[in-house]
This record gives sequence, structure tokens and C-alpha cells, in this order.
Amino acid sequence: KTDSWDECFNAAVEVAREAGEEIRSAFSSEKRIETKSCAVDLVTETDQKVEEMIISTLRGKFPTHSFIGEESAAAGEKVELTDNPTWIIDPVDGTTNFVHGFPFVAVSIALSVNKEVVVGVVYNAILDQMFTGQLGKGAFMNGKPIHVSGQEDLSQSLLISEFGSSRDKEKMDLVFSNLGSFLNEKNSAHGCRFLGSAALDMCQIATGGGDLYYQYGIHVWDIAAGALIIREAGGVVWDTTGGPFDMMSRRVLCASSEKLARTIAEGLTQMELPRD
Ligand code: IPD
Repeated sequence: KTDSWDECFNAAVEVAREAGEEIRSAFSSEKRIETKSCAVDLVTETDQKVEEMIISTLRGKFPTHSFIGEESAAAGEKVELTDNPTWIIDPVDGTTNFVHGFPFVAVSIALSVNKEVVVGVVYNAILDQMFTGQLGKGAFMNGKPIHVSGQEDLSQSLLISEFGSSRDKEKMDLVFSNLGSFLNEKNSAHGCRFLGSAALDMCQIATGGGDLYYQYGIHVWDIAAGALIIREAGGVVWDTTGGPFDMMSRRVLCASSEKLARTIAEGLTQMELPRD
């Protein structure tokens, strides 16, 4: 059955490359920046233009499919995940990086069928790294198989997280205190990285470059493709509580092993967020 999604996979890779060209050519030019939910939630005309291009290309090929896109949602379109084949699109993940010229900017495209992701493509348009996954068929970077590190021990791990795109005090306090649980004198990861793109953070776990990643406040378009890629690379994707992953729940915990994921889930103070 998974075979039948090959055509969708090829279309996703092709349109991600096209989107990447657009992003690359805009990357070093001056940008018109606007804000969305708050002063650090940025959007540019490239985000909007690229999303329109991706959706119109895929809709042309798959007219019965549904769509969820970051900028369509920002423009007021309802975010609804049904059993119908649904494309979940973040045209520019890492918009703040894009604005500043920090080279971690990705196109993220997932296809969900019966609420399960069957195709995931994350393309770092600046570094030309194409991360791909198909359900049951493994994960790849630029066509070569990738695997998680398998690390089980927090004290030997590289942690990845993000501050997210809101600055309300309660959330920031929790982010800092949670980081303190995994970076302290008694019990510490080797280090912590914030790449500024949830999709690319997740792809680092899939390649074994990082061992664990969690974030509160992300949206389905940031994580849908990355979650499949990590699982296909042998990693664990859970809810931050240690329960089953729910891609609409605005939170995610990814790790290179179940043992490490359990350590993190037990160490986190949880936060409830309105669902996507
Ligand atoms: C953001 C990035 C960032 C994460 C934010 C997201 P965007 O996505 O993934 O790493 O911390 O929560 O909103 O807005 O650049 O597509």
C-alpha cells in the first residue's frame, strides 16, 4: 500500500527543490518583514509566495487532496486534519534565520493519510540538504540512508531545543527551568543547540548529529515531516509527557532511544497549549 504514495513523494521532493531555489535567491536580498502573533513571530513575502507556489503545484497534481499551510492558517484558513490525504506545509521553517541570513532555513512538506504521515520532506535550501522519509522505507539525506545515534545516556548527549516564537513570561520561565533540568552540575547533557528551525532540529536527531529534542508551542507544519524522518531513521517521537505523539498537540519529544526519551519525559515540567 505504501507504494501508492511514491508519486506524492516524488512530487514533494520536486516542489521542495523549486521552493528552495526561490528561498536561496531571496536569502541574501533585503526582505520586507512583518510580524504575526507578536514582535518575534516574523513573516516575509517569501513565506507567502513560496506557500502559494507549493500548494498550487500540489493541488494541480492531486486535486482531491486537502491542505494545511502555515501562511494559509495565518491568513485565517481553518486548520483541519481529516483522514483525507492532507499536505502539511511550512514554506519557510526558520523564518527568523531567513531574515537574519543564518543558514538554517527549510521547506517542510508532509503528506498525512488517515492522520498518519506517509511522506516527509525537509529541505535546507541554503546548505542544499534534502532530508526525506517514506513510511516503512527509511530516511535519507541527499539520497544516503541516515540513522539516529542510539545514545541512551543524557550525560553523553547533545540536546536540541528552541525558545519558540512567543515570549510570554510563564512560558519562558518554564523553558529556562526545563533546560536547567538537563544542563546542571549534577546531571548534564554535553551541550545544547537551538538551530531556529524545528524541522531541521528534528533532522539533526535523524542523522545522529543531536540525540534529543523537545519543544512546546510548535505547530503541525513545523514537525509533521520531521517526525516521520526521525522514526524512519530509528528514533523515538513521543508527546513530551512520554505518551503517544499527537501532531496537533503543539508539543513534541524526540530522541535517539526510548531510554533517553523516558529520562527527558520524566524530567520535564509540562505545559498545556491550545491545540492546532
Ligand atoms: C518556527 C521555527 C522555530 C520554532 C518556532 C517555529 P517558522 O517556525 O520552527 O524553530 O522554535 O516555534 O514557529 O515560524 O520559522 O516557520
